[in-house]
Amino acid sequence: MTIRYDNRVAVVTGAGAGLGRNHALFLASRGAKVVVNDLGGAVDGSGSSATAAERVVDEIKAAGGEAVANADSVATPDGAAGIIQTALDTWGKIDILINNAGNLRDKSFSKLEPADFDAVVNVHLSGSAYCTLAAWNHMKDANYGRIVMTTSAAGLFGNFGQGNYAAAKLGVVGLMNALKHEGAKYNINVNTVAPMALTRMTADIMSDKIKPLVKPEFVTPLVAWFCAEENTTTGDAVEAGAGYYAKVQIVEGAGTVLGGGEIPSPEDIRANYDAITDMSQAQPYASANDVMRHIFRSLNPR
Ligand code: NAI
Repeated sequence: MTIRYDNRVAVVTGAGAGLGRNHALFLASRGAKVVVNDLGGAVDGSGSSATAAERVVDEIKAAGGEAVANADSVATPDGAAGIIQTALDTWGKIDILINNAGNLRDKSFSKLEPADFDAVVNVHLSGSAYCTLAAWNHMKDANYGRIVMTTSAAGLFGNFGQGNYAAAKLGVVGLMNALKHEGAKYNINVNTVAPMALTRMTADIMSDKIKPLVKPEFVTPLVAWFCAEENTTTGDAVEAGAGYYAKVQIVEGAGTVLGGGEIPSPEDIRANYDAITDMSQAQPYASANDVMRHIFRSLNPR
């Protein structure tokens, strides 16, 4: 059966261009009513214009879909509330939220100003949290929600010159990790995409050889699956780009117990550092409580 979103109301943030535009066009083509949000500024987040969102709404309508534009910023609680309110005012509910809006202020850490840190964290991390907060209780009341966070390989694995961006992008994974627990009872699934695509954000850093391979269209099917009613997955982070899709997971080594109940010395840590960092039996954990259980089982093996 074809996956469709008829009678579903979706908000896509940062949907005036790039990946968000593509997500919005796709969901609308499969029956969703879409709030196309975009501040309409430059890559660094400066400036604003309503036309970015309006253009995508025009595209959706021209193709026979339903959409409404919103030009609020995700980076303030009021802006985020306004974005979700647009869905509520127009169609009376919010079923799907794709936290996609993003800016960039790449600088090596020695040159990074606090304002560059805040500007990026405010959009990616706080913006995702504010929009999710504004939508959360409506989804909870409806016993239905599909939320997608957008992370980055830079946050998952690190990248030179992206301290602000990497911190923010791993932050949204932490947000997902908590919300997957809080949403489970209410049929609210929260998943994360780590995209790789040619957009204005990456146009300067991708080689001409790679550019034709990384169309945003390759990322959208994964996001669309996360938004599907039949999808019961929650708490997954998946890389997607150029036809490659792979789950990314935080794992913890089996660990070792030192000191036999006494406080170990730094020399004990030095002597056992290979065992501490041995990842040969690493495994993921579904929650902090599961990690605690593993630790106490290690302390008191039967
Ligand atoms: P893009 O620059 O084309 O799209 C981002 C959109 O977000 C822009 O249209 C921008 O106006 C909007 N935006 C920025 N600040 C906003 C705010 N405060 N409120 C509302 N809208 C705002 O870039 P792209 O590549 O489509 O990025 C989409 C998401 O994917 C971002 O979160 C980005 O960090 C992430 N990403 C993209 C990768 C890629 O390879 N293109 C790689 C990893 C992550």
